Amino acid sequence: MRLTPEQLEQFDREGYLFFPAQFTRDEMRALTDEVPQLYARREACNVREKGKDAVRTNFAAHMYSKPFAKLARHPRMVQPVMDLFDEQVYMHQFKINGKQAFDGDVWQWHQDYGTWLNDDQMPTERAMNVAIFLDDVNEYNGPLMFIPGSHKKGVVQARHDLTTTSYPLWTVDNDLIATLVDRAGGKNGGIVSPKGPAGSMILFHSCLVHASSSNLSPWNRVSVYLSLCAVSNHIRRFKRPEYIAHRNFTPIECLPDDCLLKDYPVDLPWKDGIPASALQTTDVPFDGSRVEPAMTVL
Ligand code: SIN
Ligand code: MN
Repeated sequence: MRLTPEQLEQFDREGYLFFPAQFTRDEMRALTDEVPQLYARREACNVREKGKDAVRTNFAAHMYSKPFAKLARHPRMVQPVMDLFDEQVYMHQFKINGKQAFDGDVWQWHQDYGTWLNDDQMPTERAMNVAIFLDDVNEYNGPLMFIPGSHKKGVVQARHDLTTTSYPLWTVDNDLIATLVDRAGGKNGGIVSPKGPAGSMILFHSCLVHASSSNLSPWNRVSVYLSLCAVSNHIRRFKRPEYIAHRNFTPIECLPDDCLLKDYPVDLPWKDGIPASALQTTDVPFDGSRVEPAMTVL
């Protein structure tokens, strides 16, 4: 799948692209059938909601689950990002967010690149998310919310929130969000929220400010996020464990387009468990060069 000039222009302006029903229900079933057994694992790779058993996010399934290893190499997800960067990409992060019925908690307003810069010392914003819905997403089950055009502000001021949810995040404060929403059109398009059937895909800029509300509905909202980084832009610090921020910068080689429905060989290096080395962290940049966070205060 190649992006059209109109899509490239829209991405530049809005900071995201939405592709409703990009994958079929049959393709999604191969993935959704696998989720319960992944969420059942009592391992570090499953972060549960604060005070609950429901899984908030599962990390690195592409390293130990065959259907997700194939998704991580899917040309419909990976090729558009390579086109946008005009460079090969590697997997910086892979997560299956649960947003489970009744239990799914909020994701506060944030930019992903804020975390990738501050925690992982990723040099520039040449990385982005491609999300795919495993469930239908509607207005009730906690859809993602974007502030269109907010990526144009670069890295905005953020603070490390360690308490609101079970997962630490660099979050943007309410005053700045109000300003950004106002500038994006206020009640007329200042916040957008792509919704659609399972199999829909969203590609969004790493500086796009986004959030999602809790899920009080009886419907799960499981979504997968591939965070793809241009190979030359690999992280410089291993402060977070490898199952969260990957350290293998090898370019992704895509499989054929029918890979979710057919058998193709894929490596599953963590199929027997997450290695101890992937849990180790260091605060020291591995090549001696420190990347200074450059915050924009609006
Ligand atoms: C994220 O921003 O990383 C996740 C948001 C969501 O799944 O709602
Ligand atoms: Mn995010």
